[in-house]
Amino acid sequence: MTLIDSDPDTGLAPLNFSVTRSLNGKTPQQRAEILANPGFGTSFTDHMVDICWSTKGGWHRPRVQPYGPIALDPAAAVLHYGQEIFEGIKAYRHADGSVHTFRPDQNGRRLQRSARRLALPELPVSYFIQSLRELIAVDGDWVPSGADQSLYLRPFMFAKEAFLGVRPANKVAYYLIASPAGAYFTGGVRPVSIWLSEDYSRAGKGGTGAAKTGGNYASSLLPQSEAYERECDQVVFLDQDRNVEELGGMNVVFVYKDGTLVTPESPSILEGITRDSLLQLARDRGHKVEGRRVSLDEWRQGVASGDIVEVFACGTAAVVTPIGTLKGADFIDEQPTGELALSLREELTDIQYGRREDTHGWLVRLDA
Ligand SMILES: Cc1ncc(COP(=O)(O)O)c(C=O)c1O
Repeated sequence: MTLIDSDPDTGLAPLNFSVTRSLNGKTPQQRAEILANPGFGTSFTDHMVDICWSTKGGWHRPRVQPYGPIALDPAAAVLHYGQEIFEGIKAYRHADGSVHTFRPDQNGRRLQRSARRLALPELPVSYFIQSLRELIAVDGDWVPSGADQSLYLRPFMFAKEAFLGVRPANKVAYYLIASPAGAYFTGGVRPVSIWLSEDYSRAGKGGTGAAKTGGNYASSLLPQSEAYERECDQVVFLDQDRNVEELGGMNVVFVYKDGTLVTPESPSILEGITRDSLLQLARDRGHKVEGRRVSLDEWRQGVASGDIVEVFACGTAAVVTPIGTLKGADFIDEQPTGELALSLREELTDIQYGRREDTHGWLVRLDA
């Protein structure tokens, strides 16, 4: 068990995890081969964490166990009604070998907000952070040390109670798996092309857009396929009033010529932690920052008039990606590119990889 202090907010003592080591994990040589070229989301470490929850027992049976298939009753509620949420967060290896993660309290809180919306139980943030530490304690060797590499951590929670009826499940499982990661987009950081989805929306008023729940991503797959058919990398969604929302898995930021950064804000957008951090770094540099509605017309006219000088997308997986082209059914708008997106990306990744001072106290060490 990893010893950590009790939760300062709730006073909860740490969980007492049982640890079962994998007997058929990868050999050091197999692991080295994977880490040399990890891709994204295709290889997994040797272990996983799970914690059970029930209405009667609360959070119980915290375990670290060998990575492997999950046995589910065919009537498990998640398979029928999609009661599921997840998170995405990375572990970074610093030059001295130590392993750190970035703002895990924010991911823990967002998992709680997603849980509330999906009628799932809220995992205490201290348990969430402890789960990351427990996995790193057994799979720390899986955190790669190459440039731009990390260990992508995927916490998720789902309804496992077996019943066919639409109500919140009384039995839930929380899991954490991890996948070594290189660059998200093949070809490294390059401007991406975006397809404007007019026929499909990602979220509606009062819907689940602000929650990180599988259904939002399931509904983005068809428009994402449309994007690929139009030779675009990603899809951007509008709301019912033709305001810009976000991409399928990233937030959007517009840079105006007076240096102001503007990002769409609405109750149906996922509140990105990368976006929040980049905007803070921009504020530190003296930029004005606004969260507000941005209509498609404002975007297109701003680019045409030169008022908008840069547009970029951001999220944990790809960090920062300049948007090079916006394609609609009857137009193609080339987007202006500038220096700010890449310079903010460098500053953020320098902090994450320990190459620059972490003045905001965003890093949390996982391996000690
Ligand atoms: C729909 C969506 N928007 C935005 C983001 C960015 O969030 P974060 O910066 O916390 O990764 C994500 C996830 O990465 C996402 O899935």
